[in-house]
Amino acid sequence: MQIIRSASEFFAARRALPESLALVPTMGALHGGHLALVAEGRRRADCVAATIFVNPLQFGPGEDLARYPRQEERDLELLAEQGCDLVWLPTAADLFPPGFSTQVSIAGVSERWEGAARPGHFTGVALVVAKLLIAATPQIAIFGEKDWQQLMVIRRMARDLGLPVEIAGFPTVRDPDGLALSSRNAYLSPSERANAVALPASLDQARRRIAAGTPVADALGEARAVLASAGFAPIDYFALVVADTLEPLDEPAGPMRLITAASIGTTRLIDNIGAVSD
Ligand code: PAF
Repeated sequence: MQIIRSASEFFAARRALPESLALVPTMGALHGGHLALVAEGRRRADCVAATIFVNPLQFGPGEDLARYPRQEERDLELLAEQGCDLVWLPTAADLFPPGFSTQVSIAGVSERWEGAARPGHFTGVALVVAKLLIAATPQIAIFGEKDWQQLMVIRRMARDLGLPVEIAGFPTVRDPDGLALSSRNAYLSPSERANAVALPASLDQARRRIAAGTPVADALGEARAVLASAGFAPIDYFALVVADTLEPLDEPAGPMRLITAASIGTTRLIDNIGAVSD
């Protein structure tokens, strides 16, 4: 596995790789969810590149940039074991040189939910992902479905900018009790970790209640109560939305997603699942 840090070395290495490249952008602190993305990349393209960059632009003031878990050596071992061909660890100076003034903002799909709870988050994500896609020219870029809104924002951006890349989502990888793998799970105390299972359980309950004909508002209220009684506070949102636009739904219709974000102790977790309308 080639390990590359400077942009100029990365451009040279990219030219030597086959055209059919899968890109897996990450912020490191890798877990089984990221490794599943690399494995999917191997199935879908002739070679796989990952990037590791803790992107300061997508963290707001008061968020966890300084304490975000960093474990570079371990991440590189995991990527090599998974058969990744190349990893690029760009420097902030390469990505955002002095005087950098460009922004990428995606109206509509990025405005609610995570966009409202974390102002500036999606412009930071979109800018760094646009730069990585332009630099790497992958045929396919793979993102976890746990960050569902992020996936929809990136897909919208790639379409709007005409980037010649398939933006693929990969299903959320979960612990056996249902909690979605996340680098932020490392912040949970043992008792918070035990209670955090209420997050996927509340989504599953809401999905079943809505499929059984319970009014959406009632099902969402019951799910919030499940989270509150497990110690989640605040619950930033718990909503049924149109899968691709993230518009809220009062009634089931078409491809939908149940999405939530809530904090347990000082750790904010997000999760989502698909929902059906019959
Ligand atoms: O999902 C993430 O880890 C990040 O938001 C991403 C896509 C690597 C951009 O920094």
